[in-house]
Amino acid sequence: MTDPLRGWRLKFQAPKGVSEYFPPRSSSFEIVRDRLLAPAKAAGYQLIELPVFEDTELFTRGVGGSTDVVMKEMYTFEDRGGRSISLRPEGTAGVMRAVIEHGLDRGQLPVKLFYSGPFFRAERPQAGRYRQFYQVGIEAIGVEDAALDVEIISIAQRGFTSLGLNRFTLKITSLGDADSRSAHREDLAAFIATLPLDEETKARAERNPLRLFDDKRETIRSAMSSAPILLDYLTPAARSHFERVRNLLDTLGIAYEIDPRMVRGLDYYTGTTFEFVHHDLGAQSGIGGGGRYDGLMKELGGQPLSGIGFGLGIDRVLLACEAEGVDLADSESLDLFLIPLSEVAQSEALLLASEIRKTGLRIDIAFGERGLKGSMKAADKRGARYVVVIGEDEIANRQVNIKEMSSGESESIRLVASEIAAKILR
Ligand code: HAM
Repeated sequence: MTDPLRGWRLKFQAPKGVSEYFPPRSSSFEIVRDRLLAPAKAAGYQLIELPVFEDTELFTRGVGGSTDVVMKEMYTFEDRGGRSISLRPEGTAGVMRAVIEHGLDRGQLPVKLFYSGPFFRAERPQAGRYRQFYQVGIEAIGVEDAALDVEIISIAQRGFTSLGLNRFTLKITSLGDADSRSAHREDLAAFIATLPLDEETKARAERNPLRLFDDKRETIRSAMSSAPILLDYLTPAARSHFERVRNLLDTLGIAYEIDPRMVRGLDYYTGTTFEFVHHDLGAQSGIGGGGRYDGLMKELGGQPLSGIGFGLGIDRVLLACEAEGVDLADSESLDLFLIPLSEVAQSEALLLASEIRKTGLRIDIAFGERGLKGSMKAADKRGARYVVVIGEDEIANRQVNIKEMSSGESESIRLVASEIAAKILR
């Protein structure tokens, strides 16, 4: 491909369908990621950092053989030792593997973990759907308490609202316990048997009949509109857990819609499941989702502990912020831009910057010989709040002008780090 701006042929391009972040947008990506993580940290979740590839069978067993994610979307390859390896399509199975392997479930419960990083699904690329994308996730393992479900949901909610997002809806449902699901499955299978389905869809329905609720084809959608709904089959225990979740959400003032036909794309879900849907994102509207997975740990060879968590799509949350016109750059712009006009001034600027940075203020220096005009332009482009020019006179008099870029006003101030910092912080 010829680059239209530069006119020469690009030798290399990123693989198709990946998301990449570089300045200036990378700072918005960073802000989104950090703000989504902050409420989890505040609630006592701790970092878990895991490999991006795992034994393929972990995902086949954990995520489930009936899912698109496992059937069609995994990047699977043989490593040099002949083992089947897959790039992680999601985070929960890996977290459970690590919890079991390292015995994290032998201590205080619930085990509360957070992570963020890249995930991989060979989907058809489109706006908001990538083959390498980024998630922030949390998992709480070992306590089956409705209050924990609500803590998880409220952490996601707080992440979104702390970014200033408004135009999203929380959808919840319950997939019940094993008894609820097997009663429902029987009736659903009988219902599905009456439908004229092709062989592939039939085979899929046999593996997991709930998958048909998620089928995008219009004929199947309309056929499924009269199918039996799992919420109507909840056992008394599952029903009361779900009621408590709803009551606690009401107590916290978190608005939600019940969506009894919601089917998550992964097979491990049980009980409370949820999705956050943004209204300005078109087809790829899911900005986050999660739920309980009470059978997963046992399935992967651990003790039969319950779990609940979520994954939030950083790429899509960033798109949602942009769609809502949220100004992410504002809080992260430069506080001060220093413009040294000579070599002596440059060492003065380096010293000054390293002193003032200790206060947490964000400072950059004009490097290279751009001249005063070029440097002022750079300061403007970087959104610097204040600019200080350091020349021979300034060093001789130990006095500089600090210019506020928004008003254009200047003030003379001593060339002392603490005084300059105080002026900016005032
Ligand atoms: P998931 O719903 O498959 O859940 O993914 C979570 C979020 O990741 C989605 O809501 C979406 O924002 C984002 N996402 C998924 N696929 C893509 C893609 N191809 N491109 C861009 N963004 C994408 C999980 O992954 C579960 N592990 C969440 C969970 C944790 N459940 C319990 N614990």
